[in-house]
Amino acid sequence: MDPKDSLITEPEPSSPSEDLAQTVAGDAGIKKDANESGRNTRIEQAEARTEQAEIRIEQAEARTEQAETQLIEAQKMEVLGMLAGGVAHDFNNILAVIMGYSNLIASDLAPDNPHKKYAEEIQHATERAAGLTRQLLVFSRKQTVQPVVLDINDVVKDLDQMLRRLIDENIEMTIISEKQIGRIKADPGFIGQVLMNLVINARDAMHNGGKLTISTKNVTLDESHTPTGAIPGDHVMLSVCDTGTGMTDEVKAHLFEAFFTTKPRGKGTGLGLATCQTIVHQSGGYIGVYSEVGKGTTFKIYFPQVEQPLDVAARLIKSEPLLRGTETLMLVEDEPSLRYMACAVLELRGYKVLTATNGQDALHVASKHKGPPIRLVITDVIMPLMSGKVMAESLKTTNPDIKILFTSGYTDDIIANHGVLDAGVEFLSKPYTPSMLAHKVRAMLDCAVSS
Ligand SMILES: Nc1ncnc2c1ncn2[C@@H]1O[C@H](COP(=O)(O)OP(=O)(O)OP(=O)(O)O)[C@@H](O)[C@H]1O
Ligand SMILES: [Mg+2]
Repeated sequence: MDPKDSLITEPEPSSPSEDLAQTVAGDAGIKKDANESGRNTRIEQAEARTEQAEIRIEQAEARTEQAETQLIEAQKMEVLGMLAGGVAHDFNNILAVIMGYSNLIASDLAPDNPHKKYAEEIQHATERAAGLTRQLLVFSRKQTVQPVVLDINDVVKDLDQMLRRLIDENIEMTIISEKQIGRIKADPGFIGQVLMNLVINARDAMHNGGKLTISTKNVTLDESHTPTGAIPGDHVMLSVCDTGTGMTDEVKAHLFEAFFTTKPRGKGTGLGLATCQTIVHQSGGYIGVYSEVGKGTTFKIYFPQVEQPLDVAARLIKSEPLLRGTETLMLVEDEPSLRYMACAVLELRGYKVLTATNGQDALHVASKHKGPPIRLVITDVIMPLMSGKVMAESLKTTNPDIKILFTSGYTDDIIANHGVLDAGVEFLSKPYTPSMLAHKVRAMLDCAVSS
């Protein structure tokens, strides 16, 4: 009940003894004053209580509103996750085909052929589309994380050209790498995605040009200098610094929220930094921002250092192996256009390729095969009749040395356990470029230990 109401309905003090006192004692005036002052105090108290109650109502309303906003946000995420997961499989297959064939056309044409440029443009557009699907998948946590022990300088060096393609000519990009950099455990593809997002943001903040510096550094966070959310210890810091517009405190407060963007419609989805944060947290790292309006912005990412040696796959990519071979491989893929494309890529590199359309077919092809043993099977995970995993296990019983490379565009798969693959299982996510496939195949064939 509103305290105001209780005040209004409170009965006036008019007991018979009081009436008598007023008329008989002759000090009616004094009594009346005392009564009035008592009443005034009660009114004041009641008003104070009303005010407090109103404040509490306002606070409760604000909390309800906040909860409603969070609920809407959570529902949006859920829908996004479903959408991303649902279309990713088919969409990535289509992209892999476009990417593969445009790559084959571009590498077939002479440098002065005008069509070469067109094919390359198709490749760039497809890479952008693939980047967008990856973003959605990572963000909705449907993308498989495949962390390896790596040297971040190698990853940055590999991405150098791609990042330069993203920025305009009036932006000067510099990379400063610490020489003896510590090793970290992360997914190189995801680091690429984080860097790409940060570089694009920096570019957008420097319309009139400026300086963009990407650096790597060994940093030890001690107890007293550890930002909230980070863990003290040895880290590798990756920073992206720009001399752009900088950010207001208001923008800084919402920066990592999904769908927060200050960019015009169609220019930004507001998923960039939210994705970066998801990725960095998945590697046990921390991301922080320092920004001043009119001066620029620096994003700093801290990855915990690890003691383990560099992963074999990461080392092989580093030493640029010859991406050809003569081994016999089997390609198992139910999507015909993707099967033709991957087969063409591998045959062009000298491999002998057997193909199959599903798990059962693969077992049949393998049992009929005569000639050099099948060294490696590249297989989709989810296929009709028999899954890639069941087929792989069956092949391994007759040929324990056979290596298996799983590929998938939809990563909510049986082999992906809580988003991270079991150790020893090799995985290539779709869409992959011909060079990614060639790298992975060669790296696995050259690796002495069977996966
Ligand atoms: N380097 C930067 N300088 C100035 N403002 C930045 C910078 N990086 C991010 N911001 C601000 O943070 C907002 C959110 O960034 P985020 O990358 O999450 O989304 P977006 O760039 O707007 O869209 P998307 O990345 O999905 O295309 C941006 O809209 C911009 O206002
Ligand atoms: Mg962005």
